[in-house]
Amino acid sequence: MYSTQVQTNTHYLLNQEQRESNARSYPRRIPIAIKEASGIIVTDMEGKTYFDCLSGAGTLALGHNHPVIIEAIQHVLAQNLPLHTLDLTTPIKDEFVEELFASLPPAFSSRAKIQFCGPAGADAVEAAMKIVKTATGNRTVLSFHGGYHGMTHGALSLTGNRSPKEPITGLMPDVHFLPYPYRYRCPFGLGGELGEQISYQYIQRVLDDPESGITSPAGMIMEIVQGEGGAIPAPDEWVRNIRSITRKHGIPLIIDEVQTGLGRTGKLYAFEHAGISPDVVILSKAIGGSLPLAVVVYDKDLDQWSPGAHAGTFRGNQMAMATGIATIRFIRENRLESMATKMGEQLQNHLKTIQKLNSSIGEVRGRGLMIGVEIINPKQQPDNLGSYPAYPELARLIQQECFHRGLILELGGRHGSVVRFLPPLIITQEQVNQISHIFAEAVQAAEKKILHSL
Ligand SMILES: Cc1ncc(COP(=O)(O)O)c(C=O)c1O
Repeated sequence: MYSTQVQTNTHYLLNQEQRESNARSYPRRIPIAIKEASGIIVTDMEGKTYFDCLSGAGTLALGHNHPVIIEAIQHVLAQNLPLHTLDLTTPIKDEFVEELFASLPPAFSSRAKIQFCGPAGADAVEAAMKIVKTATGNRTVLSFHGGYHGMTHGALSLTGNRSPKEPITGLMPDVHFLPYPYRYRCPFGLGGELGEQISYQYIQRVLDDPESGITSPAGMIMEIVQGEGGAIPAPDEWVRNIRSITRKHGIPLIIDEVQTGLGRTGKLYAFEHAGISPDVVILSKAIGGSLPLAVVVYDKDLDQWSPGAHAGTFRGNQMAMATGIATIRFIRENRLESMATKMGEQLQNHLKTIQKLNSSIGEVRGRGLMIGVEIINPKQQPDNLGSYPAYPELARLIQQECFHRGLILELGGRHGSVVRFLPPLIITQEQVNQISHIFAEAVQAAEKKILHSL
């Protein structure tokens, strides 16, 4: 069926380089061909093992090939269930909606409708835009500096990172970007709580100002912890303030939980930290239990679009719904969101100790198992807050040093200078210790190579 003649990593990597698009991204920094994977461990073609703290960009909440996932897949196959159904219903789909709604706070789910989307977070973002635009009749959308919402035209328009946007003409117009609270690099140069307060006051004034230049918004989209933006958590108080001001102005609040959803930040949904109820929630990654699935869940008052308004062939991935059910159940039954808090705290503690011993770590932050380590150049001038410039070359070298030592991590944040930890929620204390140990060695080695030779 498949070639059993297993080749070396290099063989597959060279083939990939020759045949795949120039837009390929992860293999450039994580040069690996994967032979097999289990839990937090992936094994390459030559038998080398790695701790996978990328987890399919935060998708693999239960790690690779968890028994409940395998069982769900086998069940679908054994029962001869359909694999593809467009958006026609089936018992599995019905059960998936039950499980998903049961996992959401009742204040939200009791009023919710669900739209199944094409199997990518970005398509669910597109759908969310269409829902709020249709319902409000408005065209303007508010988004945040540092936000990430995907790579399709609409989703990219809402994304902060300029580099993938620069070459693309004709992005969605009428998107306005607002300052997101970011203590280490405060957009107002103030830092601390004051910076966060000013961020909110600024947004409040922009929305109240009849001459702000921004026409009535169709919606505001935000992440509660910015993921690709560099694991930046928004303070709960700020989130609550944003909820009040959007409610006051009748602006639908769209929470993008594509990366945070299903326990990663220490609550099943990150918006629960602040105790708010959004109007729209976008979900993908973890809810498919390793397989592609994306949905928008939203208040029924917004359900004003027409039949067929967001069609798409692949909205009925039954296998993903089955693995999604298994994942939601396993996470809820085993309170994995609490484990994410516990393991996240332990990992952050280790990383903060490493920070004390190494001058190139500007900040360790995050929530639950969504953690970022901001790499800086301590040999340059700090700004007025005492924050040093980003050091992307050193961040890349740390990533490489980790990789050589068997730890897969990804970079994100401004200039790609934040090392991100996104391990599966089933990570153990022992694994947290091992990963921290590797990271400490890698930072030291990388600093020695370029920082101390400056
Ligand atoms: C918060 C957020 N929204 C949307 C997306 C886009 O999802 P996808 O890559 O599946 O299109 C991502 C992907 O990382 C994300 O982190």
